[in-house]
Amino acid sequence: MKETVQRVSMVRGQSLCFMYGDGGGQEMKNLTICVGTSCHLKGSHHVIDRIEQLLQEHDMEEQVNITAAFCMGRCKGNIGAVIDGRDILDLTEESVETVFRREILDQ
Ligand code: FES
Repeated sequence: MKETVQRVSMVRGQSLCFMYGDGGGQEMKNLTICVGTSCHLKGSHHVIDRIEQLLQEHDMEEQVNITAAFCMGRCKGNIGAVIDGRDILDLTEESVETVFRREILDQ
């Protein structure tokens, strides 16, 4: 089955994620983190680096798609972030590991 999907993927020029539609047989999460000026000043780039590091540590790189976005319209709060269409309101440099555990690892 996997080889057939890989062949069809090559013929069609579509990624395996597109072919499977769910990150290669596993549920793919979509995480968007704001890197606009305000969030950048709050450390969003460090948060992204730490999340990528945590994903590597837990061998979950293929399960989470991280996208950077510019101003998500809530600059006065913590770092803007959305996972699978749901707002994350408590993301900071200090809370990144707690948020990672709650939103990704324990799901
Ligand atoms: S800069 Fe991130 S929400 Fe505005």
